[in-house]
Amino acid sequence: MNKLLSFPSILLLSFVASSITCMVCDDSKVKETQQKEQPMLYDTSKVYERNIVELSMDNVHPVPLPPKEKWRRVLGYDVATPFGIPACPISLSSGVKFLSKLGFSVFTYKTIRSESFKAHPAPNVCLIPNMKQLSYADNKQPIHALEDAKKSPSIACSIGNACLDIEWVKEDIARARSYLQEGQLLIVSVYGVASEMRAAAQDFAYTALMAQKAGAQAIELNLSCPNVNGGLLYLQSDKVYEIVSTVCTALKDLPVIIKVGAFPDEETLNEIMFTAMRAGARGVCSMNCLPMQIITAEGKPVFGKRIHAGVSGGCIKDLALEQLHFLLKFKEKWAQSKMNIHHTECEIFSTGGVASAADLIDRVNCGAQIAMSATGVINNPYLAQQALRNKLFS
Ligand SMILES: Cc1cc2nc3c(=O)[nH]c(=O)nc-3n(C[C@H](O)[C@H](O)[C@H](O)COP(=O)(O)O)c2cc1C
Repeated sequence: MNKLLSFPSILLLSFVASSITCMVCDDSKVKETQQKEQPMLYDTSKVYERNIVELSMDNVHPVPLPPKEKWRRVLGYDVATPFGIPACPISLSSGVKFLSKLGFSVFTYKTIRSESFKAHPAPNVCLIPNMKQLSYADNKQPIHALEDAKKSPSIACSIGNACLDIEWVKEDIARARSYLQEGQLLIVSVYGVASEMRAAAQDFAYTALMAQKAGAQAIELNLSCPNVNGGLLYLQSDKVYEIVSTVCTALKDLPVIIKVGAFPDEETLNEIMFTAMRAGARGVCSMNCLPMQIITAEGKPVFGKRIHAGVSGGCIKDLALEQLHFLLKFKEKWAQSKMNIHHTECEIFSTGGVASAADLIDRVNCGAQIAMSATGVINNPYLAQQALRNKLFS
């Protein structure tokens, strides 16, 4: 197992205390100009470890939350707004610290492992152009990276379920939890690995228990990382059952959801979702990044030997919406199924291509329990605030 470099651990410890300039002021008006100046919350020229600890944002004006009668039940908790951040570099404590003031209520802490694990060598993230909507079948066509741009609604990433120094991670989960107010929820995403399936399921369970002890209120099983060998576990029914049942048995009452990528068709989605729910899952977060080949203008792979990387943001919006519609149909089937001995409701967290306040609201109006955005919020952290302020959501 890889050991963490001494550079990031030292860097992490020294930066954590001073990483965010978070000027909270009483003035509830956010000036448009300040929002336009906000750079992307991920600097593609820096290594992954620096990005997550040096995350900073000025002029964070806390947004008033809706009255309690408008809150909703999510995984057994009262949640103030239906907006969240899925597992990604801005969902560690450094991001939760200010995004929790900006109208988001559900945070899925970026995937952790049972042991420290180095990120793939840089580059880890590149911008890609605003292009046509991608479908599941498109994933064999290469995409050209966007060079010389500062922002783009779509990106590609290849990090590889990195996990920083494990003691630091536990403290950081506790720190993220400490930033939450009433009406906010911390889910922790976990990944397990071993050469044999049963041992891998136990590693998932061990990591989930560790996350629970650190402060997780629910667990997400990352069954869909496109950037690790064999990461697309969600397409294999036997593995889904083994992992979900092992984790649910170990955790007893802590809610467990699964994180899936796009399914090739509705039939496969139904089969896997029945399996996961039968094994004790409470719901699903859809969808993870779409694996694609990313190449330079000269046709060389952007991420070196890693031919595929995960594409997220604007260009997977239609695909994510299609998956949401399939899941909503599954939800009805599940509610009526004789198999729903554990939980009658399948709770749906939807992410993928949410890039505006209107997109956030659209996901909720379509039927998602929680609408989430990673790439959209990396580009514009004010999405939820805009949705709440503009009264687009009531
Ligand atoms: C830089 C980056 C890192 C990510 N890391 C994780 C991760 O650790 N675990 C996970 O389940 N998903 C991860 N994701 C996927 C997101 O949670 C989300 O499923 C995906 O980006 C699609 O949503 P979006 O279009 O709103 O970005 C990552 C996404 C990005 C952009």
